[in-house]
Amino acid sequence: MDTAFFNGIFLPKEKIRVSPDDRGFLFGDGIYEVMKWYAGFFFDPAGHLARLKRSLREIRIDLPDPEAFLNISEGLVKANKLEDKYALVYFQVTRGASPRSHSFPDPAVEPTIYAFARKTEPVNTSTGPAAGVMTARDIRWSRCDIKSIALLANTLSFQDAHERGLFECIFIRDGYLTEGSRSNFFLVSDGRLYTHPESENILSGITRKNIIRYAMESGIPVVQEPFPASDLAKISEAFLTNTSAEVTPVAFIDSKKVGTGEPGPVTRQLHRKFLDELTIMKDR
Ligand code: PDD
Repeated sequence: MDTAFFNGIFLPKEKIRVSPDDRGFLFGDGIYEVMKWYAGFFFDPAGHLARLKRSLREIRIDLPDPEAFLNISEGLVKANKLEDKYALVYFQVTRGASPRSHSFPDPAVEPTIYAFARKTEPVNTSTGPAAGVMTARDIRWSRCDIKSIALLANTLSFQDAHERGLFECIFIRDGYLTEGSRSNFFLVSDGRLYTHPESENILSGITRKNIIRYAMESGIPVVQEPFPASDLAKISEAFLTNTSAEVTPVAFIDSKKVGTGEPGPVTRQLHRKFLDELTIMKDR
């Protein structure tokens, strides 16, 4: 039986009941965080905690003890006997339960916290086969930097890709490639690594930040500027990053091959750095 965390206690998932007045349910009024457990450690827990705090601040949820996120995450790994496995921990926070009104509850109510751990398989580390993606207009809101639980535009867009047998939908906003429906997007053009700058148009991915660091450490020129969707033909490599799938090479975009269609040298080098860092963390 799965053990989850709900409003201060660990309990069997089946026992959890969310109020019909929860603002997460009524308005999508909440944020979340996802962190990966690598059979002994979390990858960049400080980065995930910092982003959690930022998301809470941006939507004005006053969570008394956001640092508890780390202990709760470890508690979930232990309670579900996942210590020596790979797992994803999801931490969902809403503004709480209160009769439906656009204004925030006044006085404020206790935020609702729901967290769970889900076993996952180690990602195939052989850097292949590369994935196919499509592009589509970014139909999301103007605060994609907040890790909001309101993901309808993401799920609708991802479903379009999924039904075409594709791995991801890459968004285009005002003519520029922004990010995927559940991942950040990197590309190589003219020997330089491009990714969209931090802005309200993308989620600042924890994997993205670390990949940028590996690139800088490796002397790969990094350009954090929006890349025009009209220049797709100038791309020699592309890959996606996120917590669950880590680094995913892109083979084709809208049915057009990227480079040779195989994971390129920059993608492989950065993926290798990521895997090496995991090994270092494991041996620590
Ligand atoms: N999604 N952009 C979007 C829209 C995302 O949903 C995600 C992550 C990322 C990558 O962020 P990170 O490297 O911190 O995982 C970028 C997670 C995996 C999810 O929603 O499950």
